[in-house]
Amino acid sequence: MKLDVVILAAGKGTRMYSKKPKVLHCVGGRAMLEHVIGAATALGEARLHVVVGMDGDGIKQHIEERRLPIELQWITQQQQLGTGHAVLQAFPGINTDSDDGVVLILYGDVPLIEQATLRNLVAQASANSVALLTAIAEDPAGLGRIVRDEEGHVREIVEEQDANSQQKCIREINSGVLAAPAKKLGNWLSRVGNKNEQGEYYLTDIIALAVDDDCKVITSVIETEIEVQGVNDKHQLALVERHYQMKKAEDLLQAGVTLLDPRRVDIRGDITCGKDVEIDVNVILKGSVKIADGVKIGPNVVIKDSVIEQGAEILGGTNIDGATIGAGSAVGPCARIRPGTILGEKVKIGNFVETKNAVIGAGSKASHLAYIGDAELGESVNIGAGTIVCNYDGVNKHKTVIGNDVFVGSNSVLIAPVTLENRAFIAAGSAINNNVPTGNLAVGRGKQRNISGWKRPVKKD
Ligand code: UD1
Ligand code: MG
Repeated sequence: MKLDVVILAAGKGTRMYSKKPKVLHCVGGRAMLEHVIGAATALGEARLHVVVGMDGDGIKQHIEERRLPIELQWITQQQQLGTGHAVLQAFPGINTDSDDGVVLILYGDVPLIEQATLRNLVAQASANSVALLTAIAEDPAGLGRIVRDEEGHVREIVEEQDANSQQKCIREINSGVLAAPAKKLGNWLSRVGNKNEQGEYYLTDIIALAVDDDCKVITSVIETEIEVQGVNDKHQLALVERHYQMKKAEDLLQAGVTLLDPRRVDIRGDITCGKDVEIDVNVILKGSVKIADGVKIGPNVVIKDSVIEQGAEILGGTNIDGATIGAGSAVGPCARIRPGTILGEKVKIGNFVETKNAVIGAGSKASHLAYIGDAELGESVNIGAGTIVCNYDGVNKHKTVIGNDVFVGSNSVLIAPVTLENRAFIAAGSAINNNVPTGNLAVGRGKQRNISGWKRPVKKD
């Protein structure tokens, strides 16, 4: 069987009240359209066609930047004349040569649809059968109704606007997702008219045409209605986001992760967790995050594109981006770890410390209030409170190299490029702009003078 997937994404998204195209709004940190493409890609050998409208170029650019492992055919629907018209635009590129070709239709704004659901639906479609995904809706308002005859066979789909009062009472609705024989679908679509309340070419009209052609219409009723929830406004976006997050949290719990409150963790990417990982509340994990065994993450932590090695502890309020945190290290509370930071084993980074492009050796410590940028630190280095690495001269960035067992006293300024060799000792309050040889004490500050008999100023009358 040859499978073509058509994803409709040309709708205007008026009710989002946003300059951004609707299908680029995110669920779990990823554009809705990307979720749908992901589910379709998982079906295996299929050609994907995405129908876009006015913001087509922006959508295409966004998706192409994601470098998804699939080739996409982009089709522009110049005017949004209805779902039937939209699918028809994709037809020149759809394989209608073989009799067993099937077209699966998905919506770019229905992001929670699952691969297993699609696989079942596609398996039911054939040269002489259409497979339709329906749901029994709590509130069917606004949706297309599945009209059946006395024997229970599907006759047609009637849109809310065109439905009579009896039809409006039907609770079985059209999810919008369907799989149809490619050859016949092209023919039915070319016969669909727009004489209806909305003046649109309805995709749903193909069902009555299929019935007339003696083509079987097979329905699958979806159990989890949220899977086919469309997003038309920010309320629905939030609803879908919460469901997505609960599912992600459930996956982590199933894998043995301790979540202090599954409702207060947000997963916006691909996360892997080892055993005995503990995650406190209001933690956000973004991009690609790998968390090894025994890691503890405190409250209000954000981690993006990073690796947290075995037994490390990330304390509350810490922000980590593009870093590797070595085994047994402790970071935070309230530390900012920026891209290019690589911490060795048992490193301690305390409160209000910022690191960037910094490789810090095992057992080194910066316990409070420091900036370490474009630097390489050896093992067992101690960085005192208030130490600043001046890596930037206003034009260029320079490197600071610090050997093993170096002690940097509090409130020191290390003016790069500069090297502190093994066991160098920097007196507190120093401004260091010359290299310090092995084992030397460097004092780079004004000499203290004590003035005896000095009188404090007194207030004038
Ligand atoms: C559609 C179905 C309805 C179903 C509902 C489920 C039709 C006629 N009706 O209604 O039976 O219950 O979905 O959510 O199909 N789109 C285009 N080009 C267009 C029009 C729409 O690409 O010209 C895209 C939209 O971006 C969206 C999808 O098609 O992704 C559905 O369009 P929408 O206008 O939301 O259809 P509904 O009226 O909700
Ligand atoms: Mg809709």
